[in-house]
Amino acid sequence: MCGSSSNVSEAGRTMIVGSTGFIGRFVAEASLDSGRPTYLLVRPGPASPSKTFIINSLQEKGAIIIHGSIDDRDLMEKVLKEHKIEVVISAVGGERISDQLILVEAIKAVGTVKRFIPSEFGHDIDRADPEEPGLTMYRGKREVRRCIEGAGIPYTYICCNSIAAWPYHDNTHPADVLPPLDRFKIYGDGTVKAYFVAGSDIGKFTIKTIDDHRTINKSLHFRPSSNWLNMNELASLWEEKIGRTLPRVTVSEDDLLAAARAMIIPQSVVAALTHDIFIRGCQVNYSMEKPTDVESVSSSKEAAIIVPNAPKPEAMAITA
Ligand SMILES: NC(=O)c1ccc[n+]([C@@H]2O[C@H](COP(=O)([O-])OP(=O)(O)OC[C@H]3O[C@@H](n4cnc5c(N)ncnc54)[C@H](OP(=O)(O)O)[C@@H]3O)[C@@H](O)[C@H]2O)c1
Repeated sequence: MCGSSSNVSEAGRTMIVGSTGFIGRFVAEASLDSGRPTYLLVRPGPASPSKTFIINSLQEKGAIIIHGSIDDRDLMEKVLKEHKIEVVISAVGGERISDQLILVEAIKAVGTVKRFIPSEFGHDIDRADPEEPGLTMYRGKREVRRCIEGAGIPYTYICCNSIAAWPYHDNTHPADVLPPLDRFKIYGDGTVKAYFVAGSDIGKFTIKTIDDHRTINKSLHFRPSSNWLNMNELASLWEEKIGRTLPRVTVSEDDLLAAARAMIIPQSVVAALTHDIFIRGCQVNYSMEKPTDVESVSSSKEAAIIVPNAPKPEAMAITA
């Protein structure tokens, strides 16, 4: 282990799993920016220069590094106990979702974790029903949900919808690349809307939920109305920004289904989810009617988390 807990405040100690990954880094940065005592579980072994850079930069901001893997139950129990961890946030990638079942066992055994946020960071996986291979990933995430609920661990499921970027259907992490500069590929007729949320906001709002009792044992849906766009609108926004128009090519439902059926992982998972978002409308084809739904909304000046059916949005005094 690197770093020490001796000078760290005991209140709110938060362990983040997957901080070297795409979503986890946003969460780790937000946790450190919020001043929480932040522990990062990092898998041991040789690290690429980019992974080393991320770890060093988070460590410079005050993160304490713990080496280990969540599929090592004994180590997880030891870490949770020794560091008096109160909050665990997991952002493991799609292919390691089931490793969390062992982490859940360790959290249950220790019994002192006040909130667990599992690796979701997408759609409400109990509602959405994508084609394969997206469905297999969702089944894995559903199994983790049932395991957490069965263990009686306090949780929040983060349903943050799409990352704010051009939604490429054949790229794992769209925010790593620019929107198109030659031609737009528009899914279907380009009229089905989705919510696009900046990675930094995903991190910030995930951390905000920890101290908000209204999000305990709830699914938190990120639905910023100003970022509710279809592909035609998104393309027009980009054209405005670059000061020129680009040709638009249709990618049909059949094209997306063929890309999903090709079973090239992870691209086919992204193709199946793209189909679910932009053809079936999985982000917009339901209302917030379940008692376990909580919605995070935002305007340009402030952001609020509201409980559906409350007479007025209950502001959390969050500055966006
Ligand atoms: N809404 C969206 O648009 C969107 C986009 C992308 C992802 N997501 C979702 O966000 C979540 C995270 O995905 P991602 O793409 O950010 O993942 P990622 O980039 O693949 O990163 C995964 C992270 O988890 C770590 N990890 C994996 N297995 C582990 C284990 N057993 N123990 C400890 N650490 C482990 C990896 O560590 P190493 O560095 O050692 O490999 C890495 O830091 C997933 O649920 C995914 O479905 C959502």
